[in-house]
Amino acid sequence: MSNIKIAILGMGNVGTGVYQILQENNEEIYKYLNGDIEVEKILVRTIDKKRKISIPNELLTNNYDDILSDESIKIVVELMGGIHPALDYIKRAIKSGKHVVTANKAVMATYGKELKGLAKENGVFINYEASVGGGIPIINTLMESLAANKIEEIIGIINGTTNYILTQMTNYNMSFEEALKLAQTNGYAEADPTSDIEGEDAAFKISILTSIAYGINIPSKAIEREGITKIHKSDIDYASELGYKIKLLAVSKRCKDNIEIYVYPSLVPNEHPLASISNEFNALFVRGNAVGELLLYGKGAGSLPTGSAVLADILSVARLIKNNIGNDKNKNDKFNDIQIKGIG
Ligand code: HSE
Repeated sequence: MSNIKIAILGMGNVGTGVYQILQENNEEIYKYLNGDIEVEKILVRTIDKKRKISIPNELLTNNYDDILSDESIKIVVELMGGIHPALDYIKRAIKSGKHVVTANKAVMATYGKELKGLAKENGVFINYEASVGGGIPIINTLMESLAANKIEEIIGIINGTTNYILTQMTNYNMSFEEALKLAQTNGYAEADPTSDIEGEDAAFKISILTSIAYGINIPSKAIEREGITKIHKSDIDYASELGYKIKLLAVSKRCKDNIEIYVYPSLVPNEHPLASISNEFNALFVRGNAVGELLLYGKGAGSLPTGSAVLADILSVARLIKNNIGNDKNKNDKFNDIQIKGIG
């Protein structure tokens, strides 16, 4: 059967990973889809620029209308990051009847409810697995695999940059600044790392997970948070003497009729599974009332792991398109329908 054509918005770290996986794993992709994913257009700011990978020039455009007006493009993959202009581009794609895959946590944490409503109205999907936990399939796990559970608790290490920094400070005696620089060089940190080190990035992500797990829309701005900028080497050493690791935890817990949600540097006992999560790795400890405790672990940042999650979304939408299935999948998402009183 025919191939599915996509457009990618942004050719940064994650865009490069997606393009690379499409090239290198095309046999696996063909087997899953019984067809190919074809990149028809890539929206970039500057066309003539030296890139990490070679991309045919005819795919590149700096005019978004080229993509919106191309009816052969079925899926728009937004990998620009940040709210503007990504939000506007996502809305315009949906209104043009195109499915959207995005890795954008800021957009999904802040405008997710609105965008899902818009997608539903327009009969298209919006998938966002890569917005939380890089390569870890946490969103699909909560939405699909744990759909029969009442989720009781999510405790996550969901920012790779801060986990990397804390690990370097703990294991290699590195200073905060040196470790941050390395995290940036390795492509884990955001363009402006303030969002990582101040806990905003983790707040976006736990807001998204809370919306899926409990059907409650808690804007990231309403989440109590503290980053790791006040953590000194001496704090890490004291914690270590007492048998603890310091980790930036994002927590979302059901407590009777309330949800407790926060992001804080926390003391994690050495024997807890989250204590051993190091470097850019992320982990999510989830408790459901039927499944019990689960631990998901993997690379929470980086080009290929995040690209893997983006591809999972592209493939799942592509398969639905090929099977001619509408956007019924959205019905699984409690986020569409419920809102907490007084917030959001
Ligand atoms: N800056 C993010 C992190 C990238 O460090 O986890 C993945 O969202």
